[in-house]
Amino acid sequence: MKNTQKIGNVKLKGRIFLSPMAGYTDVAFRTLCKRYGAALVVTELISSNTLVNADLSTIQQLKTSEEEKPLAFQLFGSDINLILKASKIIENRCEILNINMGCPAAAIVQQGSGSALLEKPEHIGKIIKKLSTNLSIPITIKIRAGISKENINAVEIAKIAEKNGCSAICIHPRTQKQGYKGDADWNIIKHIKESVSIPIIGNGGIVDEISAKKMFNQTNCDFIMIGRAAIGNPMIFQRINNYLKKGIIDEKFQESIFVEKIRLFKEYHKLWQKHELSFVSLKDHAVSFFSGFPNASTHRGSINKIKDESELMDYVGSLNQTDRNLHKYFINQI
Ligand SMILES: Cc1cc2nc3c(=O)[nH]c(=O)nc-3n(C[C@H](O)[C@H](O)[C@H](O)COP(=O)(O)O)c2cc1C
Repeated sequence: MKNTQKIGNVKLKGRIFLSPMAGYTDVAFRTLCKRYGAALVVTELISSNTLVNADLSTIQQLKTSEEEKPLAFQLFGSDINLILKASKIIENRCEILNINMGCPAAAIVQQGSGSALLEKPEHIGKIIKKLSTNLSIPITIKIRAGISKENINAVEIAKIAEKNGCSAICIHPRTQKQGYKGDADWNIIKHIKESVSIPIIGNGGIVDEISAKKMFNQTNCDFIMIGRAAIGNPMIFQRINNYLKKGIIDEKFQESIFVEKIRLFKEYHKLWQKHELSFVSLKDHAVSFFSGFPNASTHRGSINKIKDESELMDYVGSLNQTDRNLHKYFINQI
């Protein structure tokens, strides 16, 4: 099957996407990932109910930037009319809509949303039909393999989704029961790609250039989506793009990883300031950017005690000055 670089009518400049991640994929981090080569970025999951019923000016997740476009908003919910109402609110703020049908968190599943929808393929069909006939932007879904190993139904759901007007499917081929542990079965991605004609986005377990290429080769998916490996590591998109184009791993970047991490965190900080995000976001990203350092737990402990932005940025500045031996450590690790 031919690979495409479009989702619906939205043209994409590459094939590597940033996965939605609650607590991490805020507007600043998404913009950073876009700068370093992500072709599409996605908001964290947003409650349809909150969008419809809360004061929109209080919802941090609605913050977007021109630079990050094209952007996909991800919503969760189970009531079809509520999801439609929420979708109408965000229709003009993004280029693509994604509905979460994979989240295994109890709080989401208990509402009949997220991965709970996998138990109701017909209901999934109805949601997509309603959205695709009432919205002007492409409707996409993010699913899992199924509820459990005994109930793998991702191919069935993909066919229903396509029939009802879905423009692309992202598949994270773990089950709801697996959560984030155990193997992601990439054969399921391959089977879905063989079963439908709309673009397929492969997700789950991509950690570097080699695994990215392997996902494309093994599944023939159109796009790949990177989650955890992008946290604190926005350069992963540039590295994978380079590798797919030139077939070489960017050793020069790897050697400068320590210096790069500090520089990248400062770049995140500027975007964070511009979009007036919460201090918790800055702190969480600081911990993630420096998590690969040899004394990461000390850094985590110190960062977690910090009370404000200027103290945090002073700390990051001091890393630059005093931890020169870390650079040597990284060079020795490569
Ligand atoms: C901290 C965290 C938050 C996540 N939040 C979301 C979310 O809001 N929406 C969603 O569809 N998936 C969410 N996921 C799942 C990821 O998007 C992705 O499907 C999963 O981590 C597998 O990809 P990976 O192996 O590249 O991390 C989250 C994962 C993590 C680790």
